[in-house]
Amino acid sequence: MMLSLYATIVLLLLAGVESASRNDCNAGDIAALVAVKAAFNNASYFASWTAATKCCHWRGIKCEYFPATGHVNVIGLDIVEDDNVAGPIPGAAIVGLTSLVDLTLYKVPGLYGPIPKELARISGLFALTVSGTGVSGPVPSYLGSLTALQFLDLSSNRLTGGIPASLAAQPHITSIDLSGNRLSGGIPVEVLNLDGLQFFNVSSNRLCGMVPSGSAVRFGESAFQLNKCLCGDAGLPPCHHTN
Ligand SMILES: *[C@@H]1O[C@H](CO)[C@@H](O)[C@H](O)[C@H]1NC(C)=O
Ligand SMILES: *[C@@H]1O[C@H](CO)[C@@H](O)[C@H](O)[C@H]1NC(C)=O
Repeated sequence: MMLSLYATIVLLLLAGVESASRNDCNAGDIAALVAVKAAFNNASYFASWTAATKCCHWRGIKCEYFPATGHVNVIGLDIVEDDNVAGPIPGAAIVGLTSLVDLTLYKVPGLYGPIPKELARISGLFALTVSGTGVSGPVPSYLGSLTALQFLDLSSNRLTGGIPASLAAQPHITSIDLSGNRLSGGIPVEVLNLDGLQFFNVSSNRLCGMVPSGSAVRFGESAFQLNKCLCGDAGLPPCHHTN
């Protein structure tokens, strides 16, 4: 009895390993990635993204095996340090990666256009990096609906407009980097007051107004440097009261 139970368990485990290695990415993820590649005109970065290679071994792809469904899902998409990938971020294709946890677009100067609204529908997104690109337009307020988001890096792009207060709606956010853009207006107090926020940087923008007391100490004075007219305590230029 014990032996056959043991044998059954071993068989089940082997079956799990076997199907994980036999299965590749699910068909929906593969279709989404093929659409991403096509959106970038089959740039050389995607040379390994062919049927000859298992999708989990494609450049920049991270997979995870989900025993409950027996599926292998794409959880990470990285496009990093490439000068040939060019065009708008293909949001409609990326949203097809329904299990995506980490999207990293880093040092891809050929990317342009806005941060697409489709990204707000990737409900499990934990880390979003769009940094060192030509991406422009606003920091979208709909990013606030990414309730799993912990890590947001939108540094060194050409983003304009204000910092949306809706970023404070992300209950798990620990890191926000918006440095090196062209953002204007003030810093929403509710964002700076987020309990779990450990890293915050808005240096090198065009921000103005008062940084709430304590924030420069909490995040470091350099997190606010090189703006148009931010003022406050702890090393920031003093605010001039006009009333
Ligand atoms: C990209 O590759 C696919 C498949 O090889 C091909 O059908 C398509 O025409 C290519 N597109 C471009 C823009 O090169
Ligand atoms: C903020 O970012 C700027 C530019 O990358 C950097 O020089 C500065 O040290 C950063 N400060 C903090 C506190 O992260």
